[in-house]
Amino acid sequence: MTILLLLTSTLLSSYFHPWGVVNAQSFTIRNITLSIEPSTDVTRDTNVTLRCQALVSISGQAVLSREYTIYKDSNVVYTKTSSTPEDLLYLLPEARVFNTGKYKCTVKIESREMSSDVKKLTVTGLSKPVLHLNKGVVIEGEEVTARCTAPGETGSIFFYFFKDSKEFQDKHTSSNQAEIKLHFSSVGVHKIHCSYTVLVTPESFKSEDSNNVTVSVKELPITAVLEIGPQYKIYEGDQLDISCSISNLLHNSESFHLYLSQGDSLLSSGNKTTTLKHVMVAKAIDPGEFECKLEIGNIVKVATKILSVTELFSAPTITISPAEVFQREIMKITCRCERYASERLTKEDVTYTLDPPQSSLNPGGNGVFSGRALHFEFNYTCVAEAKGIKKHSEALTVRPKVYVSVPRISVDGRAVLGKPFKILCQSDIGSLPINYTLFKDYKPLSTTSIKLSSQQAIFTVTITKPEEINKFMCEAKNSHREGGLSKNLITAVIEPLSDPTVTVLPSLENLYEGGYLDLLCSIRGTPPVTFKWYREGREQPLSTTTSNQNYTKHNIPLLSKESSGRYYCEAFNHANNVRSDNVDIVVQLAQWKKGVIVGFCLLVVSVLVVLCVLCFRSKRGKREAAAELSVKPPSPKSDDSLTVNLTYDTEVYNAASDAAPLYDGTEGRVTNGVRDSVASLPADFSNRSSYSIPATV
Ligand SMILES: *[C@@H]1O[C@H](CO)[C@@H](O)[C@H](O)[C@H]1NC(C)=O
Ligand SMILES: *[C@@H]1O[C@H](CO)[C@@H](O)[C@H](O)[C@H]1NC(C)=O
Ligand SMILES: *[C@@H]1O[C@H](CO)[C@@H](O)[C@H](O)[C@H]1NC(C)=O
Ligand SMILES: *[C@@H]1O[C@H](CO)[C@@H](O)[C@H](O)[C@H]1NC(C)=O
Ligand SMILES: *[C@@H]1O[C@H](CO)[C@@H](O)[C@H](O)[C@H]1NC(C)=O
Ligand SMILES: *[C@@H]1O[C@H](CO)[C@@H](O)[C@H](O)[C@H]1NC(C)=O
Ligand SMILES: *[C@@H]1O[C@H](CO)[C@@H](O)[C@H](O)[C@H]1NC(C)=O
Repeated sequence: MTILLLLTSTLLSSYFHPWGVVNAQSFTIRNITLSIEPSTDVTRDTNVTLRCQALVSISGQAVLSREYTIYKDSNVVYTKTSSTPEDLLYLLPEARVFNTGKYKCTVKIESREMSSDVKKLTVTGLSKPVLHLNKGVVIEGEEVTARCTAPGETGSIFFYFFKDSKEFQDKHTSSNQAEIKLHFSSVGVHKIHCSYTVLVTPESFKSEDSNNVTVSVKELPITAVLEIGPQYKIYEGDQLDISCSISNLLHNSESFHLYLSQGDSLLSSGNKTTTLKHVMVAKAIDPGEFECKLEIGNIVKVATKILSVTELFSAPTITISPAEVFQREIMKITCRCERYASERLTKEDVTYTLDPPQSSLNPGGNGVFSGRALHFEFNYTCVAEAKGIKKHSEALTVRPKVYVSVPRISVDGRAVLGKPFKILCQSDIGSLPINYTLFKDYKPLSTTSIKLSSQQAIFTVTITKPEEINKFMCEAKNSHREGGLSKNLITAVIEPLSDPTVTVLPSLENLYEGGYLDLLCSIRGTPPVTFKWYREGREQPLSTTTSNQNYTKHNIPLLSKESSGRYYCEAFNHANNVRSDNVDIVVQLAQWKKGVIVGFCLLVVSVLVVLCVLCFRSKRGKREAAAELSVKPPSPKSDDSLTVNLTYDTEVYNAASDAAPLYDGTEGRVTNGVRDSVASLPADFSNRSSYSIPATV
C-alpha cells in the first residue's frame, strides 16, 4: 500500500515538475526549442536551417551524450548524437517545395527524452518545367520522344504532357524528369508543352507551363484508293467491280494491311497485298457505304464511297379479295409491283410466284392467284422476280372464317309475365364477330354484335300475354350472306300469382264443435305453387304444400272452441308470392247442446203459459158467477187442452248467441236471449225445426 502511494506521488510530481526531479545522474532536461531560420515561410532556393536547442541543467562536470532526432511529418529525417551542449543544426540548402512540412526535434539523454513544439516550414515556388523533343519535323506515324524536366525539384512528381493545349498523357516519377513517346496521326503543326505537380501529402503544388515546342507533321504520300465500277447510274442487279488499293507505296519493307468493307460486313482483307478486288451484285436495300482502309503501323488511310443503287422494281404488295374470306370459298390474291425502272424493264419482265409455292391457289396470270380458301390459317407471301432479282412482299395472314350456324333461342332463367326476362341467342359454330338480331313477329327488335367468345347475345324483353313468347326468334349473321333464323322460342311462361281466395267448407256459419272444417285456398297463376296456411298469432305455418294445381285444402277434422281464429294462406310460385285476406273462423256450440238448452227453455215457457191459463180461468170463474146473477150467461167454451206451436229459427238463434251466452250451464236458468228468440219467432216456416209441446193442465 505504501509502495503504491509512493509510486503515485512520484509519477504525479514528475508530471507537473519534470525538471524538478533530481535523480542519481543529477541532470534535468529543462526545455527543447526548435527554430527555423531564416523564417518558417521561405521561397525556393533559400538556405534553411533548423536549429534544435536543448536546455539541460547538470550538477557538476558530468558529460552527457545527447541524442537528437529531427522529424518531418512524423518521419525521422535526421539523427545525431553529440556530447557538447551546442545547438544541433539541420540544414536544408536551397529549399524546395518538397521540404514543406511539419518539423519536430527530440532530445534523448540516457533514458530521458523531451520533444520540442512542432514548427511548420512552408517553401513556395516551383521551377519552370523544360520540354525537349528529339525531332521537330516528322512524317505522320513517326515516333517522337518528349522529355519534361523540373529543374532542381525533388520529391514525388507528376508530369503532364499537352498536345495543342489538350492533355494527352501523364507520368508519375520520383525523379525530376519524365520521358514519353508520341505519335501524330494528323498532318500539320502541333504545339507540345508540359507541366508538373509536386506531391507533399496532403497537398500538391502545381508548376507553371513549360515552353511550347512545335512539331510539324508531314503527310505520308501513301493513300488508299477505292474504285467502284460501273461509274454511272447503277441499277440493282448490275455487277459491281470494287477495288481497294494502295498508291505511292514507298517502303516495301513495312507491313501493311488492307481492308474492304461495306457497312458492317468485311468484304475482303489482305496483308502485304497492294490491291483487293471484289465482285458483287448491286442490291437496292444494301447500305451504300463502301470503305477501303489501309493500315501501316500507326497510320490509317481511309477512302470511302457512297453508292446509290436504283431499284429495278419495287417490292411487291399483296392484296386479297374478298376482304373477309370464308372457309372453302373462292378467294383471290393479287401481287403487284408499284414501280419499276422502265428504261431497263417492262412490266411483263416481272414474274410473280407465291411463297410457299405449294399453296392451294392457282396462278391466273399477271400476279393473280385464285382458288378455294383453306380451312386453317395460312401465311402468303408474294415473290416478284426479274433479271435474277427476287423481292418478297410482306406476309399476309389469311384466317378463313367459318359461317355462323343457325342459332338456338332460349330463355335465360324464367319467362315471367309482366316482368323483364332474358332471351339468349347462341350459335354453336361461326367466326366472330357475329351479329345476333332478336325478332318478334318477324320484326327485328334489336341487334347485338358479339366480338369475344366469352360474350353472349342476351336480349331483355317483357311480355304481357303468354302467347307472345312464341313470337320471338333470333338471327345470327357473320357475313354478307343471309343469316340463319332460329326456331320460335318455346318455353313455359310463368304467370305471377294473383287473386288468392279462401273458401270455407262447409260454410262459415256451420262450424260447430265436433264438426270438421276445410279451408280452400285458390289462386290464379302458373303452378307449381307452394301454399302455406297460417293462423294469425303463430309464426309457423300450419301446413305447407306444393301443388301443380291452383288450389290447396287445409283440413281440420275435429273442430273445437280453440279452432276459432283468423286464418289466411300464402302462395308462392317462380314469379312472386301473395297472401289471402284473413278469414274469421268461429266455432259454435255443438247442436245437441243447443237442443238441450232449447228444450229446457220451451219447457219453462210451457209451464208459464199453463200457469197463466189457469190463472185466467180461475178469475173468469169468479166473474161468471157474478155475471150469472145479472145477465144470461154465454155458452161455455170447452178448452180442456191447449196446444202451443212453437217454432225455433236457427238463424235468429245464432245471431243472438253471438252477443251473449245463452246458457250458463249451472242453474238451468233461461236468460234474456231465449226470451228474445221466442218473442221474435217469425211466420216463415221453411227450414225450421218444430217442436210440439203438449200443454197439459
Ligand atoms: C521553452 O523555451 C521557450 C522559448 O525560450 C518558451 O517559450 C517555452 O515556454 C519554454 N518551455 C518551458 C516548458 O519552459
Ligand atoms: C546557400 O549556400 C550555398 C552553399 O551551400 C551558397 O553557395 C549559396 O550562395 C547560398 N545561398 C544563399 C541565398 O545564401
Ligand atoms: C504555348 O502555346 C499556347 C497555345 O498557342 C499559348 O496559349 C501559350 O501561351 C504558349 N506558351 C508559351 C510558354 O509560349
Ligand atoms: C493480317 O495481319 C493481322 C495483324 O497482323 C493478323 O491478325 C491477320 O491474321 C493477318 N491476316 C492474314 C490473312 O494474314
Ligand atoms: C403467320 O405469320 C405470323 C407472324 O409472322 C406467325 O405468328 C404465324 O404463326 C404464322 N402462321 C402460320 C400458319 O404459319
Ligand atoms: C354487325 O353490326 C355492325 C354494327 O352493328 C355492322 O357494322 C356490321 O357490318 C354487322 N356485321 C354483319 C356481318 O352484318
Ligand atoms: C284453376 O284451374 C282450373 C283448371 O285447372 C281453372 O278452370 C280455374 O279457373 C283456375 N282457377 C283460378 C282461380 O285461376
